[in-house]
Amino acid sequence: MSILITGGAGYIGSHTCVEMLNAGKEIVVMDNFYNSKPEALRRVKELTGKDFKFYECDLLDTEGLIRIFKENKIEGVIHFAGLKAVGESVQVPLKYYNNNITGTITLCQVMEDFGCKKMVFSSSATVYGNAAVLPVTEEAPKGELTNPYGRTKSMIEEILKDLYISDNSWSVALLRYFNPIGAHESGRIGEDPNDIPNNICPYISQVAAGKLEILPVYGNDYDTPDGTGVRDYIHVVDLAKGHLKALDYIMKTTGVEAFNLGTGKGNSVLELIAAYEKACGKKIPYKIVGRRPGDIAAIYADPSKAEQVLGWTAELSLEKMCEDAWRWQSNNPNGYDS
Ligand code: NAD
Ligand code: UFG
Repeated sequence: MSILITGGAGYIGSHTCVEMLNAGKEIVVMDNFYNSKPEALRRVKELTGKDFKFYECDLLDTEGLIRIFKENKIEGVIHFAGLKAVGESVQVPLKYYNNNITGTITLCQVMEDFGCKKMVFSSSATVYGNAAVLPVTEEAPKGELTNPYGRTKSMIEEILKDLYISDNSWSVALLRYFNPIGAHESGRIGEDPNDIPNNICPYISQVAAGKLEILPVYGNDYDTPDGTGVRDYIHVVDLAKGHLKALDYIMKTTGVEAFNLGTGKGNSVLELIAAYEKACGKKIPYKIVGRRPGDIAAIYADPSKAEQVLGWTAELSLEKMCEDAWRWQSNNPNGYDS
């Protein structure tokens, strides 16, 4: 019996593949390499010394998915595949709705046809919008979303809930990630953005490496201790481990449950810059610019449900996240093309 990992060549997917293989799990990986490279999977094999089946397949390709389920005994799915660039989603909403929502519906239909009703889904803290109470718990109402990407996550959560209402044998974990950063401590796998990074950590890495000149800090007039945005940064390896715990849980239960995967600590942009400077031993030049449209002042998790129900907590510090991000960046100046 195997676990299918969609989007397994991507940033979080590749780290999760490593943790799954190290835990002795059988995996089958599928990806269309829209935002990733085959080299990531080669390195997953190198790091773990283990092999697995891979299918180059699109989520929207029903026949391709059927083939995967026919050729393997899939008992559950960890579903990472999706498009994730917030700004781009505003420009090309149909592409996001089609890929993320139609893609997930296509996957669920094939899962149902093969009697596989266990899914760990990559959701996001973005579903909370601008949460009124911090730290945010899973009970918090969903917030107003400012972009199509966020709406795809929120809508998929609702679709999966409806699926369970229609058939109580489904079991789904909605993992609401906070801000994953860092890389595997080997420096062999990490985040490899195609263009200029949208997210702060890869941006800082490229400034530290001299590939980008200066970090724009989007606003220092928020109602936060130093005026810059506050987020709950979580080490990608801690996040990956959360998927194994969630998988164990859904295998024994039915229902649809949301879990926050975060550390519970909020750090400002300036604190992140300071931690990264310490890790790389260089000054990160930055300039304060205007707020980025759609950004909120602060969000961080109450991760106690994941601890109580899944037995998972984040263990790695902000310093470790920055050290590992810098090792990945400095060892692979051109990402997987290095
Ligand atoms: P990523 O882009 O590195 O990985 C996603 C993978 O899915 C890529 O390898 C891509 O090629 C693949 N993919 C996309 N569309 C596909 C399709 N139609 N068919 C097959 N493969 C497809 O992103 P990531 O950071 O690893 O994120 C993984 C998941 O977690 C995504 O669903 C993302 O929305 C979600 N998420 C990410 C963050 C974050 O900050 N990185 C935060 C919250 C949620
Ligand atoms: N920031 C900068 N400069 C940059 C990039 C970001 O100052 O160049 C700031 C932002 O204003 C924010 C913080 O750094 O205060 C984090 O920004 P990111 O873009 O790294 O992350 P976000 O919190 O905006 O969004 C991320 C993911 C989304 C996800 C969301 C919630 O990109 O996909 O976390 O999980 F939905």
